[in-house]
Amino acid sequence: MENHILGIDIGATGMKGAIVDVQSGQLITERIKLQTPHPATPEAMIDPFMDLIKMHEWSGKIGCGFPAIVKNGVALTASNIDEAWINVNAEEWFEKASGMKVRVLNDADAAGMAEAYFGAGNGKEGCILLITIGSGLGSALIYDGQIIPNTELGHVYLKGHTEVAEKYASNNARKNQNLEWDEWGKRFNEFLNHIERIVLPDFIILGGGISKRFDLYKEYIDIDIPVAPAAMLNNAGIVGAALYAFQKL
Ligand code: BGC
Repeated sequence: MENHILGIDIGATGMKGAIVDVQSGQLITERIKLQTPHPATPEAMIDPFMDLIKMHEWSGKIGCGFPAIVKNGVALTASNIDEAWINVNAEEWFEKASGMKVRVLNDADAAGMAEAYFGAGNGKEGCILLITIGSGLGSALIYDGQIIPNTELGHVYLKGHTEVAEKYASNNARKNQNLEWDEWGKRFNEFLNHIERIVLPDFIILGGGISKRFDLYKEYIDIDIPVAPAAMLNNAGIVGAALYAFQKL
């Protein structure tokens, strides 16, 4: 089916996939999640990538969200994956392995695209900022439906800090430093207020694994613009990846 595309969301901990109907933004198969190998090198990622294809009995176009800056299919950074990825053309790499057409974009941009079209941002005008909270902090900026790619706002430095913001306010920071929800919530609020001053969004969407736990930290978010959890929760990255491949292939 022309409208069906396999969406794969590669993260530092999991590689998730499902077949997506790109007209409706719905997953039409169960989402399958495999572990991201460690170290997460280009070679090691081939097996789970191919397993996702086989488990979905897929043959066709593939869209893939990837946790790094991605320009024209080439990974340019590797904060939460192996550095061997830097300068690798991820599209060519996965196309060679699968024999199928693959398009790759930044994982947060994928989630932002899906949420802007089908999720919490649907019908909203102006500037939407999506932050994915996971192993890192990913960002997507969408203006009137158009993504401004690779914004990387989780890599800003907050005042008085010597490490980038994602080391202080990501879900990994919460887990690794055993932070209570109030402690982490205040840190995340500090990050959001800083970002608000840089990009002045009209609406903020929070995605990633802990979007479904929004109730546990929403009371610590104190900002003048509306903030909502991702409507598609952690499936936004899969849907956006498929949507991107649909547009580009
Ligand atoms: C990476 C981003 C990515 C985010 C979420 C960050 O460490 O630099 O490119 O979007 O993690 O995976």
